[in-house]
Amino acid sequence: EKQGFKHFMLKEIYEQPGVVRACLEAYLHPDWHPDKDTSPINLAIPASLYDDLEHVQILACGTSWHAALVGKYLLEQLAGIPTMVQYASEFRYAPTPLTVNTLTIGVTQSGETADTLAALAMEKKRREGKPSQFQVRLLGISNRPESSLGHLVPQIIETHAGMEIGVAATKTFVSQLMAFYCLALDLAYRRQTISATRLEEILVGLRQLPAQIELILESQERYIEQLTHDFAETKDFIFLGRGINFPIALEGALKLKEISYIHAEGYPAGEMKHGPIALLDAKVPVVAIAMPGNVYEKVLSNAQEAKARDSRLIGVTPMNDPEAAETFDDLLPVPAVEELLSPILTVIPLQLLAYHIAARRGLDVDQPRNLAKSVTVE
Ligand code: M6R
Repeated sequence: EKQGFKHFMLKEIYEQPGVVRACLEAYLHPDWHPDKDTSPINLAIPASLYDDLEHVQILACGTSWHAALVGKYLLEQLAGIPTMVQYASEFRYAPTPLTVNTLTIGVTQSGETADTLAALAMEKKRREGKPSQFQVRLLGISNRPESSLGHLVPQIIETHAGMEIGVAATKTFVSQLMAFYCLALDLAYRRQTISATRLEEILVGLRQLPAQIELILESQERYIEQLTHDFAETKDFIFLGRGINFPIALEGALKLKEISYIHAEGYPAGEMKHGPIALLDAKVPVVAIAMPGNVYEKVLSNAQEAKARDSRLIGVTPMNDPEAAETFDDLLPVPAVEELLSPILTVIPLQLLAYHIAARRGLDVDQPRNLAKSVTVE
């Protein structure tokens, strides 16, 4: 069943190009053209969820919460909709005061996470009997539309990742990101917050992602496996990113914590100087995600600050970038796509890094201690 891979997690990492292809096939109209008077996105979302939309709030846990943070960036920057992202477990006991014309999105790959389901049920209940602008509008994003989530929400975007066995979410995360790209583009098209040229540019970029993930897997895996030899004794890792790649820094840290039991923290790179930089020394490697865009130079300079504290600097950077080569001690290069599309690529080397560190330590990668695939208790 592992098809020659040592662990399900590695198999699932390798399935990601296919997962992105499946999402593109499901979500994009194949013969769409800018002259056509319809959205290029085929999510079959009823107008009642989109009409007069003023706010989006997203409820999720763990890796799904990280996907939601990328979603927030996309919904705000592409579709211009103010978006709140809440941990479902926190929202249950301190919900945001009711906002009008609000779409509530529950993100859960399993569709069975107790906190996410309870937070969505609570949101439904507290909006009952309220004036029409407060009426609940629920949408789910899930890999399992037949799950408990399916009974709770009237509409689900299915993520087409196929069954995921490894406890550490990999391919389901990437598929959730695809759902958010398409949701944000659909909304941007309908709200006319995006030009036809920009829309086409992003669609072209999305279609290139599967081959680009393949390239990363082909070119990086051996190198990353080798690199992990140097981290046999490492006890702490810091992951840095900014903008749309900040959630990827969080995700890189979570993957490492979950399966290797190494302490890891993700930070927005600009926050380092407000405290965490005190942790840095030669024993604490720093992984920084630096992709071309409006925070590129900023991240490089944040990385330099870490280097000045003797940290080993690992950069997830664009391929063939001389500036990156000069800044970092080790490079995990990915194709040089624009920042907006980069999370789907930058997360791949971080998954491989976590995997190989854990596998090298001889740990049970697919069934890490203390964790279950779906958390069905509060
Ligand atoms: O099934 P869900 O997406 O609701 O699960 C949420 C979290 O429990 C899950 O993402 C967890 O953090 C993973 N083990 C991450 O790899």
